[in-house]
Amino acid sequence: MQVLFTAEQLKKRVLELGKQISQDYATTNPVLVCLLKGSVVFLADLMRAIPVPHTVEFLRVSSYGSKTVSSGRVEITDFDADLTGRHVLVIEDIVDTGSTLGYIREYLLGQKPASLRVCALLDKPTARVSGVAIDYFGFTAPDVFVVGYGMDWDERFRHLPYVGIPESQDSA
Ligand code: IMP
Ligand code: MG
Repeated sequence: MQVLFTAEQLKKRVLELGKQISQDYATTNPVLVCLLKGSVVFLADLMRAIPVPHTVEFLRVSSYGSKTVSSGRVEITDFDADLTGRHVLVIEDIVDTGSTLGYIREYLLGQKPASLRVCALLDKPTARVSGVAIDYFGFTAPDVFVVGYGMDWDERFRHLPYVGIPESQDSA
């Protein structure tokens, strides 16, 4: 495993994001909508870096296709939160092609939120096909498959406290 972002780097950056979000949403009681499963570690750290009032919801997103390539076909299951009139901040682990986020965005806008923004830990801009805006992001990532800090390779490596690039022997 090659380390791309250390636990210390992630911690520092997440604190900075929390500070910025707290300033921007100081009085508006936003709802953080966490996309499962990959964003759960990011959310857990980020919400503790946001001292202003906010709530959290979880949205289960499943992508079809191969294990390391985004297919752009996503499915949303069991989401029953009422977002009408709420200030929504979508929490995403990594934006690759942008297809997932584009789909989620349309779905959430259908619930008539007061505002809708996106906070992604990692942005992989070179793979982008959908022109979806990312309002807050932690780091720019190279166009390689990364794991850890919630992100998986076929459900493995989510527990790693850092973000890394798996090497061929890691799959054995
Ligand atoms: P997109 O629809 O192509 O932007 O893909 C976004 C989703 O694919 C993310 O929410 C991740 O769950 C997953 N994904 C994209 N790139 C990676 C990666 O490098 N590692 C792990 N998951 C990834
Ligand atoms: Mg994801």
